[in-house]
Amino acid sequence: MKIWYSRPTAKLRRGGGDRRSTIALCKKMPRFPSWQPELTDDGSFTFFSEEFGEHFHSRAGAKQEALHKFVQATQLAYRAQRPALRLLDVCYGLGYNTAAALTTIAEVNPACQVELYGLEVDASVPRAAIAPELLTIWSPPVQAILRDLAQNHQCQRETLKATILLGDARQTIQTLRQQGFRADVVFFDPFSPRRCPQLWTVEFFSEVAACLAPDGVLATYSRSACVRSALLAAGFCIGTIPPRAHALSHQWSEGTVAAFQPDGLIPLSPMEQEHLQTRAAIPYRDPHLSDAAAAILARHHQEQARSPLASTSSWRRRWQID
Ligand SMILES: C[S@@+](CC[C@H](N)C(=O)[O-])C[C@H]1O[C@@H](n2cnc3c(N)ncnc32)[C@H](O)[C@@H]1O
Repeated sequence: MKIWYSRPTAKLRRGGGDRRSTIALCKKMPRFPSWQPELTDDGSFTFFSEEFGEHFHSRAGAKQEALHKFVQATQLAYRAQRPALRLLDVCYGLGYNTAAALTTIAEVNPACQVELYGLEVDASVPRAAIAPELLTIWSPPVQAILRDLAQNHQCQRETLKATILLGDARQTIQTLRQQGFRADVVFFDPFSPRRCPQLWTVEFFSEVAACLAPDGVLATYSRSACVRSALLAAGFCIGTIPPRAHALSHQWSEGTVAAFQPDGLIPLSPMEQEHLQTRAAIPYRDPHLSDAAAAILARHHQEQARSPLASTSSWRRRWQID
């Protein structure tokens, strides 16, 4: 989950008033025109997007988020026991989900043959992410892979064939579908639905579904009802990512896992199921996979206004959600 949904103040973006050491450290980091590394609570870095008004990762820990909400949620360590694995990293960004996956695969089955595609619109993000200070959280072989991907958009090793497809994921996913790529695991990590609705629509999820193997699995940090209903409309079964121990009461889920069969998914709680009966569950639509964010949001707003579904505020009151 991205914890700053609204554009944070400059103070918050530096990690809060009590984190002067963070600011001092960041001052030593190399500067990119728009990407300034910010320390998260587990010692890994994230960026802030001025365009989308959001951080790229949870401020509670960027690396932790990659491991928990993507690698563990998709049971990658178990899936990597196979001789071969195909991964699709939707919104590659700094490459943390890819790096966390490759780290896990190297630990459990170094002989696994991995084919990986990352979808990313902005080549400057992976390039900024290979500054030496940002890479130290990964092993030297994974660092070298991230460097190759950032510089050449592809990388070949004895057990790895990886490619970043640059461009709007709504188009690049169609190329993948047409070439018959079927992922065993999809990491789905765009900016939040309100900020980047074009990647959370029924139509885009349908394209992702067409690129998923029959026993494949998708994980996302989003627990939004509109995301879950879009996944259902695109033909997925869905489960929850339960909160970790010590989670605060409002952290009732850490995201969503989707697959074509319900086996192995952790069922939604009654509260989460009821969420899907409210207006919050009206999914985003983008009939031709080409609308601007504003048009998708306006269409969604109109559908919500016409809907006979229960209001989300009554659901919040009933389950005492702030
Ligand atoms: C939340 S960040 C992803 C973080 C990333 N998974 C990581 O581990 O660092 C979202 C990413 O989506 C990219 N993005 C935004 N719109 C996109 C689009 N239409 N197609 C592809 N990528 C897009 C942004 O450039 C950004 O890198």
